[in-house]
Amino acid sequence: MTPKYLQVEKDGEIVLITINRPEKLNALNLEVMNEFISILDNLEKDSSKVIIITGAGQKAFSAGADIEYMSKIGSSEAEKYALKGHEVLNKIEKLEKPVIAAINGYALGGGCELGLACDIRFASPNAQLGQPEVTIGICPGWGGTQRLLRIIGPARAKDLIFTGRKIGAEEALVMGLVNKIIPNENLISESKAYAKNIIKNSSFAVGISKMLVNKGMDANLDTGLKLEIYSWSLCFSSKEREERMRAFVEKNN
Ligand code: COA
Repeated sequence: MTPKYLQVEKDGEIVLITINRPEKLNALNLEVMNEFISILDNLEKDSSKVIIITGAGQKAFSAGADIEYMSKIGSSEAEKYALKGHEVLNKIEKLEKPVIAAINGYALGGGCELGLACDIRFASPNAQLGQPEVTIGICPGWGGTQRLLRIIGPARAKDLIFTGRKIGAEEALVMGLVNKIIPNENLISESKAYAKNIIKNSSFAVGISKMLVNKGMDANLDTGLKLEIYSWSLCFSSKEREERMRAFVEKNN
């Protein structure tokens, strides 16, 4: 089925996913989220190595969950919508390939949460990030309270969540919420150039490193370090590791 709202473009081993609902600032309605699920399921199996997510138009990465839809639902529908959001964001987090959020404008509520589930966040100078849920009577519901806390710490997470204020790219950079600010016109090309720097490396080793950092955020140090030892040893069973090390030794002898 051809997706209606998500545009998927392959460029070698890079996949660019564009949320294409600019008239609603790329708000994430149920259809968008269902499309994400089927695309991510395919990406789990295909030969792509890095995924980039961005928003269509000049204004928004995504203005979040669909407020028009949420204005009409009760708790039981809301629970299903929350579960849908979590399903998509968990898939992104667990994907054994790096996912880059190219934040080209508003990343609010669910839009910010989508960025938080990605591994790397690049922002254009006009980006505005925030968790404004409390301004419409709800708390963040797609992992915002948990992932924001882990990325920027509890005091900064509470500041953003309690006030619902939007922050610009510079403040987001200082907080460690984004990795780098890139001019709008270069956002995708620089994200792709960055992706190529990852692709040069062993994708098995990159994937296992992603898993280790993610698991380590919730584990105690001893557990995280043990997991690292076994994962590191596992890398030695890969043919690619053997070839890469041999090539290094031969080149330097
Ligand atoms: N859900 C559904 N529709 C949304 C939306 C959302 N989260 N955010 C924006 N839209 C729609 C608007 O309703 C409007 O649609 P319309 O033209 O059919 O009326 C369109 O997108 C443009 O938005 P508009 O508010 O007119 O743009 P703006 O430049 O004046 O303001 C924002 C931009 C991002 C500040 C403002 O749209 C906003 O606050 N959005 C909600 C952000 C939010 O609270 N997200 C968290 C949800 S949990």
